[in-house]
Amino acid sequence: MPRGVRIAAIAGAAAIVVILVVIVIVLLAPSPRTAPSGATTPRPTTTPTPTPTPTPTPTFDKAQFSIDDPGSDWVVVDKARPLNPKNYVPPLASLAFPGGKGQMRPEAASALQQLFADYTAQTGDHYTVVSPYRSYSTQVSVYNGWVAKLGQTQADRQSARPGTSEHQTGLAVDIDTAVSQSFGATPPGQWLAANSYRYGFILRYPDGLEAVTGYEYEPWHFRYVGVALATEMHDTGIQTLEQFFGLPSAPDYTG
Ligand code: DAL
Ligand code: ZN
Repeated sequence: MPRGVRIAAIAGAAAIVVILVVIVIVLLAPSPRTAPSGATTPRPTTTPTPTPTPTPTPTFDKAQFSIDDPGSDWVVVDKARPLNPKNYVPPLASLAFPGGKGQMRPEAASALQQLFADYTAQTGDHYTVVSPYRSYSTQVSVYNGWVAKLGQTQADRQSARPGTSEHQTGLAVDIDTAVSQSFGATPPGQWLAANSYRYGFILRYPDGLEAVTGYEYEPWHFRYVGVALATEMHDTGIQTLEQFFGLPSAPDYTG
């Protein structure tokens, strides 16, 4: 082979090898990632937010204690719901207070002592008690006294007939004054109205609800029902036991 032809053949072969190498490199190179036309940008991977499980509102069980049993802290006593038996006597504990002593059901007495202690610690002032537990026979004297003084119609608006008074359950207490509605506008009266629920007491005869409770406003009369019920009534704004338990209003005696 002439020398010129041999050189041309070698050069051609080398060129072919180079071309083949280039082709192999191109074929093996990773293809660029191009999003197909019209494709949406993929969303970044995120941890899915779990759908919150609704927390059920705790339902207050209005049937957990009896409202009929005179031995229950929830007993509802009014003109339509006399105590049964009428001469019921509760278990009683001594109650000491500034200026005297008396008796209440043990749980009511200890709650009241705590309320008094906290009030004194907060204000430097103190409450006293006019009337805690009253027996059937004491209520006879109290009611007859009001009838003699005011006549039966007015007495029935502020004093319970024997056998229908919350005082006979040992769960009610008259604080500081038993005669003046102006007590409700005083700082001690307002403190009681605002804070007694924390100790398990409710203001049993609120202003303007005589048609429900049967009694005029008594800002001094507090009824122990336990912290759970008192707090539920406070939080729901339901002021009377009749309304809370869906009972008929009791403006008058039914029997
Ligand atoms: N003052 C309340 C109504 C009672 O006598 O029990
Ligand atoms: Zn009272």
